[in-house]
Formats: sequence, structure tokens, C-alpha cells
Amino acid sequence: MLDITSQSPFRFTTLPPLTLYVHLPWCARKCPYCDFNSHAVREAIPEARYVDALLADLDFELPRVHSRCVEAIFLGGGTPSLFSAAAIDRLLTEIAARVTLRPEAEITLEANPGTVEAQKFIEFRAAGVNRLSIGAQSFNDQRLEQLGRIHGGREAIRAAEIAHQAGFDNFNIDLMFGLPGQDTAACLDDLRIAFELAPTHISFYQLTIEPNTFFHHQPPPLPDDEIIWNMYTQGMSFMADRGYTQYEVSAYARTGRHCRHNLNYWEFGDYLGIGAGAHGKLSSLSNSIHRRHKHRQPRQYMECAIQHQPIAGENKLSADDAIFGFMLNALRLREGFDAGLFAERTGLAPNLVVARVTELVARDLLWQRDGRIGPTVLGRRFLNDLTEAFLPDDERTD
Ligand SMILES: C[S@@+](CC[C@H](N)C(=O)[O-])C[C@H]1O[C@@H](n2cnc3c(N)ncnc32)[C@H](O)[C@@H]1O
Ligand code: SF4
Repeated sequence: MLDITSQSPFRFTTLPPLTLYVHLPWCARKCPYCDFNSHAVREAIPEARYVDALLADLDFELPRVHSRCVEAIFLGGGTPSLFSAAAIDRLLTEIAARVTLRPEAEITLEANPGTVEAQKFIEFRAAGVNRLSIGAQSFNDQRLEQLGRIHGGREAIRAAEIAHQAGFDNFNIDLMFGLPGQDTAACLDDLRIAFELAPTHISFYQLTIEPNTFFHHQPPPLPDDEIIWNMYTQGMSFMADRGYTQYEVSAYARTGRHCRHNLNYWEFGDYLGIGAGAHGKLSSLSNSIHRRHKHRQPRQYMECAIQHQPIAGENKLSADDAIFGFMLNALRLREGFDAGLFAERTGLAPNLVVARVTELVARDLLWQRDGRIGPTVLGRRFLNDLTEAFLPDDERTD
């Protein structure tokens, strides 16, 4: 009899760690640079119905993960902090009743400083959220206004202060650099203020002008590339000097305080994605990897999810997809990855990438030592070219 599984290039002996991403798609206002699936809230957020839809979506997913342990939950957006603490409490209680959650699982919620109240943070904490990600972006009022933010610098500082008061000993601050009118000194001022607020993690993103955003149609004047590079390198040194280790292109953390969900994602772990437009990736012991995504528009998502039809699209990865997907993420990690992780997370034979890795080491784009593989300084600077090298020959542009 034909053994169908033997035709698969994948061989999983163990499954990757699993995390859960929950997308909450509403914002007070749409920022002009933002291409996330986020929608300005018109009237009130249909909280109860959306939580019902999320739980129906999770119920739909559960048979695929059986008794697998969920290592971390990330409530992202949009602006999850627009939701009431009661809605987040119900959501987390119902999730915990459905999945096996690792004790002390990291549960992150993204918060916009314009939506923050002390009491709400206390209640988020009581609901089980144990990590916040505060979208400060900058502490300079003029920059924030140019970014179309709903808050000023003072509110961003206050958000971090009340995070401490509410008992969050683990929180991230999002900052952006390369902003209209910003110079290196102003960028370092933002980092200095962030540092004084004692977060455990700082995400330091270069402002990118994304298609389908207001800034794409009406681009603001941005600093020169050389100035932006100075901001990046000086920002990196500033944080290194103060004990924040860069572990990914934009992510810096105190020891042990990396974001568990994001790190799992970059290490090509598995994740369930529930909510409007959420993406998920799951490996299976029947030797396949599937990606799926959910309906994007909140209204359509709610209608479909409640009828147990949340999926907008799904595909089974080929070996080429898995190789590229793994490298696209793992090469973002500053310390690279253990050579064994490739086989463990993709289920593929290591020899599929050996020749390419050797060639890229020779071109000084990758390093290989002590059983690890990672991007060199040159590789990090030309990361897109580096990851493209792992596309199949007929899809590469070089
Ligand atoms: C999904 S947002 C969540 C936080 C929350 N919605 C807020 O904005 O306060 C995650 C982060 O991505 C970053 N971001 C969004 N759009 C970006 C862009 N075009 N370029 C660089 N960073 C961006 C911002 O730092 C933002 O805080
Ligand atoms: S608040 Fe955050 S998610 Fe919402 S539009 Fe602005 S950057 Fe995007």
C-alpha cells in the first residue's frame, strides 16, 4: 500500500512551541502611517459580540491543537486597550477554560497612551494580563502630532507611570525613529525618556511608508538615509550601554525579558491567530505545515466566525515556502539560531540549505560558529537580499 506520508518532505518528531495571537481591530483614529488591520471606531465597539466571535473562532481551531500547551498570549491590534477590562477579563477567562495554558504564561496587551486610565490598567492586571506594550512612538508633542497620534508626550510618560503603579513589572515601550523633522539628538532624547521609565523591553522601529496608507499618498519629508542610519546605530549603542540587549532587528530587552510570543514567531514556532485578519501557522505530526488567515473586515469576521466559518484563506506550505519562511524570521534574530533549530522547526533535512549557507558565509552575509548561524553586520544591513537568497532559484531577483 502506498504510504502517503512518505511523500512529504517534512518529518516532525516533536512539534514547535505554540502561542496564541488575538487581534482586536479597532482604534480611536487611524494613524496616517499605519497599515495594520485597524479601523477607526465609529460608534461603540461591539465588545460582547466580538468576544463571542473570538471564542467561536478559538473553538473552531481547538481540534487542531488538542492538548498542546499554549506558552503565551498576545492581544494585539488595533488598540486592545480600547476594550473594557470586563471584556478582556471574560475573553481571558474563556480562553483559559478552553486551552492548556502554561503556568505563568506571558499575556501581553497592546495599549495606546491616549486610551489609558489607572483603574483600567489595574483591572487588566486583575484579568490576567501580565505584560503591557505601550505605543508611545515618541515623547515629543510636535512629532506625535505629525504622526496623527491621539496623545501627547505627557500622556505617553503617564501611561508608563501608571503601568508601574498598577503592578506591571514587565512592559514594553514602542518608539519610532526616522520621523518627519526628527534629528539624531531628538531621537536619542526619546530613548533617554523611555529608559528613565524603566521598561523591560523597548521596540525601536524605523518609520516605514507603507502602501495603502495616507503617508504613502502624501509622504511627509523624512530625514536622509544617513541620518536614519545614525539614529539606528546610536540608538543601538545607547540601549546596549544601559543593559537592553538587541535580540531582533527592532527589539531590545533586559535579560530574559524578550517578548515570548514574538520570539516564538521569529523562531518559526506555531501560533494560532484568532480575530479579524489574524494569521496562524500550525505544524502537524502528520508531516505538514499549514497557514491560515481570518476574514479581515470586523463586521464580516464577526458574522462568519459566529457561524464557525472564520477562515478567509488557507495554504499548505511547500518545502520551499518553509525554508524561506524560516529564514525570513530567524535571520531577523541578532544571535541567529541554533543550526538544529532549522530541522526542528521546519521538519526538513538540514542538507536542503547547507550549500546556500556555505555560499552566504563566503560572501560575508552569514556567520557560522559554535553550532549557530546568524547574519553578519553586512547581512543585517542588507537583510532583504540575505533572506531572498533562500528563495527558490526561479524566484530570486539577483
Ligand atoms: C499594532 S501597533 C499597536 C500599538 C497601538 N495600536 C498604538 O499604536 O499605540 C504596533 C506598533 O507598530 C509600530 N508601527 C506601526 N506602523 C508602523 C510603521 N509604518 N513604521 C514603523 N513602525 C510602525 C508602532 O510603533 C506601533 O506601536
Ligand atoms: S493606534 Fe496603532 S494600530 Fe491603531 S492606527 Fe495607530 S498605529 Fe495603527
